[in-house]
Amino acid sequence: MHLRPFRSTDTDHLYDICLRTGDNGRDGSDRCVHPRLCGSCFAAPYAEHDPSLCLILEDDDGPCGYVLGTADTRAFAAWFNTVWLPRLRREFAGLKPRPGAFDNWMLDLIHEDMEVPGFVDAYPAHLHIDLLPRAQGGGWGRRMIHAWAALAGARGAPAFHLGVSSANANAVAFYRHIGLHEIARTEWGYFLGMETPKAGSDPSGPRGDHGPPPALD
Ligand SMILES: CC(C)(COP(=O)(O)OP(=O)(O)OC[C@H]1O[C@@H](n2cnc3c(N)ncnc32)[C@H](O)[C@@H]1OP(=O)(O)O)[C@@H](O)C(=O)NCCC(=O)NCCS
Repeated sequence: MHLRPFRSTDTDHLYDICLRTGDNGRDGSDRCVHPRLCGSCFAAPYAEHDPSLCLILEDDDGPCGYVLGTADTRAFAAWFNTVWLPRLRREFAGLKPRPGAFDNWMLDLIHEDMEVPGFVDAYPAHLHIDLLPRAQGGGWGRRMIHAWAALAGARGAPAFHLGVSSANANAVAFYRHIGLHEIARTEWGYFLGMETPKAGSDPSGPRGDHGPPPALD
């Protein structure tokens, strides 16, 4: 298992991994409106907007996880709303909700512009992370967040945030365990955040007890 930079040939894997973890951490492929809707909202746009902030976890069977995001949420939202969302509205035009589908709510999402919460001034970067079951529980989630935070910090972001559904109890517990703190509560969950490593500081993250972030191949 190793972490490496994104390549354009990884794009289909982003959609696949997003779908197979998209139902609050579980596989949503059997009950989705459309297999690319989840990845179109939460994975592929980041790799398109800034591939250098997309890291791929890979083992002998291929890509099995990613961490991706933006160092500048305001700039990303401006691009997402003017370039990416119009594409999605065309691609998914006419798609109807399906009873019981986990991604029904994303059909509404693509018809609303992305809003930028006020706390992005303090937490300008944001990320998404998803690992397939075979990659979970081995310490890679922690390492990937620290590696990504170092990249975002090098871009000048002093801190990052992420959104997590309260229905995804495992992810909430994981984030809190590795040191993210609560920024805000919403009707669907939490915004959590963490500072990025400062230049010259211990690169192993806030707890400093798990070694440095893995080198990228
Ligand atoms: C959530 C996720 C990113 C965590 O990554 P992971 O590789 O499984 O987690 P790690 O093995 O790196 O765990 C790091 C630490 O968090 C702890 N941890 C992980 N899950 C936990 C949980 N549910 N409760 C408490 N602690 C937890 C681990 O015990 C470990 O502790 P340690 O380093 O002190 O020994 C990963 O499981 C995943 O992608 N899940 C499915 C998709 C998903 O839910 N994504 C998040 C969407 S917001």
